[in-house]
Amino acid sequence: MKDIYILGIESSCDETSISIVKNGSEVISLSILTQMQVHANFGGVVPEIASRMHTENITMVLEDALNKAHMQVSDVDAIAVTYKPGLLGSLLVGIEFAKTLAYVYHKPLIKVNHLIGHIYANAIDHKLVFPLLALVVSGGHTELVIMEDDYNFKLLGSTMDDAIGEAYDKVARVLGIPYPGGPGIEKKALEGQNTYDLPRPMLDDSYNFSYSGLKSQIINITHNLKQKNEPLREADLACSFQYVAVEELTRKLELALKNTGIKNVIVAGGVSANKYLRGQIKEACAKYDAQVNIPDFIYCTDNAAMIAAAAYPLYLKKDFTDYSLNAESQANIC
Ligand code: KG4
Ligand code: ZN
Repeated sequence: MKDIYILGIESSCDETSISIVKNGSEVISLSILTQMQVHANFGGVVPEIASRMHTENITMVLEDALNKAHMQVSDVDAIAVTYKPGLLGSLLVGIEFAKTLAYVYHKPLIKVNHLIGHIYANAIDHKLVFPLLALVVSGGHTELVIMEDDYNFKLLGSTMDDAIGEAYDKVARVLGIPYPGGPGIEKKALEGQNTYDLPRPMLDDSYNFSYSGLKSQIINITHNLKQKNEPLREADLACSFQYVAVEELTRKLELALKNTGIKNVIVAGGVSANKYLRGQIKEACAKYDAQVNIPDFIYCTDNAAMIAAAAYPLYLKKDFTDYSLNAESQANIC
């Protein structure tokens, strides 16, 4: 069979990224330009600045991806782009750029759901074995999904309130840890001990998650100590938070492994870059003799290689889209 090269474009939040991926699994080139340092000055992503920076940078990112691959746009078989969920203005920059390339170079256009992109980051340098359990841990989603086949998703459970990444970011803010909060909490937690007795969320038999109670408890502890003028042990609180937040994931994952008998697990989304989480998930899977794949760090957070990888099964089905493609801010996996 002929090799298929897909050029993926990602611009849903604060990373402008373009990548060329061969046959949905081999990354030929990847270029990522992050705006994180700019948004850090404001404590979070400023949508207007994000879309303007995508516009300014996207051509340069394309050139970089093409140069690294020693390829031209005319060499690829299709153009794939993230169209949901994300910041509308940011998504539109990528979508219009993708449409232009597809039109000028006569290539099919493929639309990709960013969350499904995170899932297919696991298809890079790794063969997905079905059925599998996908644990999605991102800034906006916390979900446990069964995949019977490519693009066949069945939702087992999801968060009832905040996503785990959101909880990391909000707790970081309360503890005075600068944006982006997730990596900051991870680093801080290494300096501390699990000494705070925090509430365990969702101690039930469902596959759902909850993070707002845990977050509120940390806000309360912080405010109480401040009012009493007592010292806050930030590192211990970061460590205790991370312990409970990750335990919530492993408890539900183990329940699903036990009840479904599924032996393959993948982890997806920005929070899967967390080393403590990676270790705990691997331990949980080992208890059930399940194989687990977690993407390399570079493919955990937002990148265009995962978008090109997710587009490959759609390319094989000729699931192409036309130029009426628009951005959508909200989306789920299924
Ligand atoms: O998947 P992602 O890049 O964006 C969404 O699609 O939502 O995830 C971003 C989230 C943020 O909440 C960020 O704080 C978190 O992933 N994150 C981490 C780490 N790296 C990124 N959380 C904990 N530990 C990390 N090392
Ligand atoms: Zn993402």
